[in-house]
Amino acid sequence: MCGIVGYIGDRNVYDVLIKGLHRLEYRGYDSAGVALETPEGNINVYKARGKVANLEAFCKDKNLDASCGIAHTRWATHGEPSDSNAHPHFSEDKKLALVHNGTIENYKVLKDALIKHGCKFHSETDTEVLVQLIEYIRLKNDCDLIDAVREALHQVQGAYAIAVIECGHPEQIVAARKSSPLVIGIGKNEFFLASDATPIVEYTKDVVYVKDEQIAVVRRGEPLKLVTLENEEADIDVTELEFSISQLEKGGYPHFMLKEIFEQPSTLLDCIRGRVVEGGHKIVLNGVRDNKEKFLNAKRIVIVACGTSWHAGLIGKYLLQEMCGLPVVVEYASEFRYNNPVINSDDIVIAISQSGETADTLAAIEIARDKGAFVYGISNVVGSSIPRCTHSGTYIHVGPEIGVASTKAFTGQVMVLTLLALAVGELRGTVSREELEKCGEWIQKIPGLVREVLKLNDKIERLSAIYTYARNFLYLGRGYNYPTALEGALKLKEISYIHAEGYPAAEMKHGPIALIDAEMPSVIIAPDDHLYEKVVSNVQQVKARGGSIIAIVTEGDDIISKIADYVLEVPKVPEFLTPIITSIPLQLLSYYIAINKGKDVDMPRNLAKSVTVE
Ligand code: F6R
Repeated sequence: MCGIVGYIGDRNVYDVLIKGLHRLEYRGYDSAGVALETPEGNINVYKARGKVANLEAFCKDKNLDASCGIAHTRWATHGEPSDSNAHPHFSEDKKLALVHNGTIENYKVLKDALIKHGCKFHSETDTEVLVQLIEYIRLKNDCDLIDAVREALHQVQGAYAIAVIECGHPEQIVAARKSSPLVIGIGKNEFFLASDATPIVEYTKDVVYVKDEQIAVVRRGEPLKLVTLENEEADIDVTELEFSISQLEKGGYPHFMLKEIFEQPSTLLDCIRGRVVEGGHKIVLNGVRDNKEKFLNAKRIVIVACGTSWHAGLIGKYLLQEMCGLPVVVEYASEFRYNNPVINSDDIVIAISQSGETADTLAAIEIARDKGAFVYGISNVVGSSIPRCTHSGTYIHVGPEIGVASTKAFTGQVMVLTLLALAVGELRGTVSREELEKCGEWIQKIPGLVREVLKLNDKIERLSAIYTYARNFLYLGRGYNYPTALEGALKLKEISYIHAEGYPAAEMKHGPIALIDAEMPSVIIAPDDHLYEKVVSNVQQVKARGGSIIAIVTEGDDIISKIADYVLEVPKVPEFLTPIITSIPLQLLSYYIAINKGKDVDMPRNLAKSVTVE
């Protein structure tokens, strides 16, 4: 949700900023801008509506000479995507330029007060309020920029990661964060600032994750300085980045989404590496091993997440209930935070988030912690906010996911939830040694079996052509594959903009069956599991109403295969592992339908990868 970048050092400032914006474009792409401070201390701001490429075209004939600079790619919250609402924003006297990721909740009150003091506004954004406030304080108190930022941030309610430059100070960038991410890369005589480490990793692996309510001051030729809002100097904790630049490239694929779908055999291997050991006979999850008492004494599990992560959470419910015999509820984090959740100290709250930065999930964690629950995080982005505010957790280790539609993170989340259910089940005595060993052996086969499923690629590409112009889709599944149906429908709608609904197959007769006709295809996920016979009836009900059916079935299926119009066969695996296998053809189907429709699959309209606002 918006990406910010900053650079100070001897490289070409504009080039570093533009490259950084491209890397962060998955966070928002409705407008972009740069503020460049010349060595003489003048600030030039250039902005353009649309993607970063538009900004580059706009800047072609501009003065790009700079000693330092800040840049922004936007996902609109306050005010439509337009040149005037694009960041960076100037203060009224054009002495300060600022970029911001987050939302200033009390911006209206602050804006009204500033208008009374004579400030004029040129955009509809909350961000312009912040830069005007900082400049107002700086002039009124006759103080330096850092003190003005501190004072302004005391007055602000909401979430922010900001970077500010000041006319006449080409050797300095001031940045700060609260509830929105900010990373600083430390190179030789240079500093990089960004919303995540992807714009930084090609220059340096040494980064500092700025903490909430800290202000970072980067000055050419001086060490990094961090101060709190109370003006106390904070420790600098340098972390080494674990991923490499090659993970951020498309690696020969036309889109990140396709690359990420095809990476799944190796990402699943990375996910289980060191966790499923001794030939599959032992599951080692440090987060469980180090918190045995919590898992032994737990009376209930509450899972909070959003979007695709919520779907993974639903599969987690089936896994944890089956393997641990514990009651599990799964809540949208955005609802949980406002529905007066009843949480007890013997509840375990599991928060799932690929980005580790989702605002609603962060808020849910805070509530769960306040109510005394033990909070376990499942995230992908190392060093992101969620792993830092949970009591314990597990990284899915699937590498950076750039495509806005989540694919490899989903299967990684489901895999971690599977390991978690087994590890907790073993601890609580609900999974026997023998069962654990059998499950572990199957888990080790999953990366290879996913590779087999990916061989359906060409068939799915051909199949997609038949369904490209469908206007609605129904996705049906039962048991473990009900959440898979929800995920398949979400994938299709977010990248192809085709309306799609996921349903538990048996619920169809309670309403959605009215929709079925020759124009409404159904994707039915029907692996060979204990509900198979029931799903057969659902398939027949669709067929009897003239509906067209694409079925995902287990190899060798001879009932549904004869009824469905098109069949995609996947290898046989135990029921608890079917969602990982059956979700792959659904990812490919959405991808190819969206491509046939000419959509931008990596940056679908209106979406952003990291939802750091409410
Ligand atoms: C869908 C998708 C979103 C995210 C959701 C939560 O493809 O990516 O639905 O799953 O915004 O994001 P995280 O997992 O980062 O909390």
